[in-house]
This record gives sequence, structure tokens and C-alpha cells, in this order.
Amino acid sequence: MSIKIAIAGVGNCASALLQGIEHYRRVPRDAHEAWGLLHLELGGFRPEDVEVVAAFDVDRRKVGRALHEAAFAPPNCTRIIASEIAKSEVVVQMGPVLDGVAPHMSEYADERSFRVAAEDPVDVEAVLRDSGAELLLCYLPVGSTRAVHAYAEACLAAGVSLVNCMPVFVVSDPAWGERFRAAGIPCAGDDIKSQLGATILHRMVTRLFADRGVRVDRTYQLNTGGNTDFLNMLSRERLASKKISKTEAVTSQLPYEIDANDVHVGPSDYVPWQNDNKVCFLRLEGTGFGGAPVELEARLSVQDSPNSAGIVIDVIRAVKLARERGLAGPLLAVSAFAMKHPPVQMRDGLAARRVEEFVAGHGDG
Ligand SMILES: NC(=O)c1ccc[n+]([C@@H]2O[C@H](COP(=O)([O-])OP(=O)(O)OC[C@H]3O[C@@H](n4cnc5c(N)ncnc54)[C@H](O)[C@@H]3O)[C@@H](O)[C@H]2O)c1
Repeated sequence: MSIKIAIAGVGNCASALLQGIEHYRRVPRDAHEAWGLLHLELGGFRPEDVEVVAAFDVDRRKVGRALHEAAFAPPNCTRIIASEIAKSEVVVQMGPVLDGVAPHMSEYADERSFRVAAEDPVDVEAVLRDSGAELLLCYLPVGSTRAVHAYAEACLAAGVSLVNCMPVFVVSDPAWGERFRAAGIPCAGDDIKSQLGATILHRMVTRLFADRGVRVDRTYQLNTGGNTDFLNMLSRERLASKKISKTEAVTSQLPYEIDANDVHVGPSDYVPWQNDNKVCFLRLEGTGFGGAPVELEARLSVQDSPNSAGIVIDVIRAVKLARERGLAGPLLAVSAFAMKHPPVQMRDGLAARRVEEFVAGHGDG
């Protein structure tokens, strides 16, 4: 049985997910393990059981093209995991642009930036209904508040679960969360916490300081990258919710308040030649026994988009299970495990345990 999904934003994260599905499709069906995944099988579903039935974008190099071609179209620059993906009947449809494309994107070269197609937008709700999609992955650029709300409304109207992988607060917003609950639709969000990225590393070391009685006095997380996500984030006014999401993901791990001036977490610069390689520089300064100083520095280099796909592939399957079990509203443990800004923050170990229990048939996800 397949899991029918729709995608809003066929950018690098979507491309890495589709290529990863292709990669794991090649693992023999009787195999129980494969590298790079938390679960080859989750709740009876394997990565290749995920089937894309609808896709939306606004870029002229993607709209109107078959999904298996659009996934490789510029300005996507994610590392190639699978040079071809299964041929798809799905044609990428024109979404409502709204605030999806920042004005400064036009100042950069075609191959690095977004170029809006001339087509009129389709009726997203109707496409979702007709396609039979069970959930929509929202992969819109940071700062696309109105566009994300438009897709969320379409999900509510069509009975489709929202998996919000970006930092506009919908699932973690109590009013929106209640609307999904009242409509009987499970959802997960907001802002995906990558498999082994800056957020989980920063959370872990912050928690380690706290668990060992070392006070965190000051910390920063500086990130650079060269994909369109980093280019888009050069616009500081689009960053408000991203900054909250990334900062709270770290400070939530401390049992005390830390002055806002002593925490700096965020995207720091766009370095074109890095493409989808994200580099994170992390520093913590703390006070240990008798006031003795403790300092930690780390540099983490990852491929940004496969890193997010490694978690999304599990969220898709967990949301499918939630739908099968008739659950409604924000999935608290799944969101706490997989997202930077969930409705409720949990320690990562606890959230992971609760997700495993949920997959095994206990709890409400
Ligand atoms: N590790 C990660 O890469 C990671 C982690 C957490 C969150 N995120 C978030 O996920 C989102 C997607 O990241 P990405 O790297 O794939 O970005 P991307 O820039 O590669 O892709 C965004 C896509 O959205 C399209 N788009 C713009 N406006 C649209 C609209 N109104 N309707 C439909 N499509 C529209 C663009 O044309 C582009 O194809 C970003 O918000 C990013 O911050 C990514």
C-alpha cells in the first residue's frame, strides 16, 4: 500500500527526498537495515511506499514539467543521490505565489535564484482532492507566511494532513492547531529538525552543559550555505520566525532563562560556492565548579537537504499511521521529535521514545 503525498515547493529538500526514496528503493525488499535512515521500515511502510500524487511550485523551470524532471531543474543544487528518479505522471502545477518569492531574488543570476512562471495559479484545494493526496509537505521559502496559510487552508478544506517543514507557525499555533483538530485531520510541524544538523547538535551540547551543572553563559550558532534557502534568508525581514524557531529549539533545553543578548542562533551568510553544503560554527561558554570557565567549539559540515529528508521520510509514515488510527490535530511527540518549533518542546530522547511507542501502537503520536 502506498502513502499518497503532495508537495508544495519542489526545491532542494523535495529533490533530496525524492532521490533518497529512489536510493532506498534499491535496497532488497527482504533487507531489514540500510545506512542513513532511522527506520528502513516504519509501521509497515518503506521509503518507496511514498508516492507523490501532486506537486506545486511557481518557478518557470519547474511548473508544467514532470516531477522527475522538475526535481533536478535549476536553481536546485542538492547533491545527487540518485541521478534519475522513477518517471512520474505528476506534472508540477502553478501554486499561488503570494509572498513566496522575495524581491531581492531577482538581483541574482537565473541559475542561483527563483524565476516566477507566467501561469495563473491552480485551485490547490481541488488539485489536492482530485489527486487523493493524504498529506501535503510544505517546503516553501522562509518568510512565505501568506502562501503557507493558503496551502494550510487548502489542506483543511480537502481533509489533507499538513506536514509543515518550514518556519511559519501553523501546527504550533494554537488557533491553527485547533482548526486541524476540529476538522479531524492530524498534522505535524513546524520547521523540520534535520537528521544530524546544527539544531540537534546545539540542543544536545546545551543539554549536556545543563545536565552536568555547568551554567551556559553565552552561546552562538553561525550557519553558512549556498543554496536558495540561504539566498532567500539574506532578507532579514523574512527571518523573524526562523530566528524564533532556531533559538527556542536551543534555549528550550535549559532549565533557566538566558538573556537574549547572550544567545545568537541563525543563518549568517550566503556563500554561493557552498551550494547545498551547510557549515555550522557553534560556541558555548559556561561556568563550572567554583566559577571555572568551560568553552566548547564545534564545526559541523552537512549536506543540507538530504539531512532534512532523513527525518521527513519518518514523519510522512508517522502521519500516515495517525490517519489510519483516526487521530486529529497536531501530533505532539512526532512534532517534538522532528520539528524545531513544535506545539510542545520535549527532550529529544523522550520524544524519540514516544514516537517509537506510537509506531508500536500506543499513545496519540
Ligand atoms: N535542512 C534543510 O534543508 C531544512 C531544514 C529545516 C527547514 N527547512 C526549510 O524548508 C524549506 C524548503 O527548503 P529548500 O532548501 O527546499 O528551499 P528551496 O529554496 O530549495 O525550495 C523552495 C521552493 O519553493 C518554491 N516556491 C516559492 N514560492 C512558492 C509558492 N508560493 N508555492 C509553491 N512553491 C513555491 C520555489 O520555487 C522553490 O522551488 C525552507 O523554508 C527551509 O528553511 C530546510
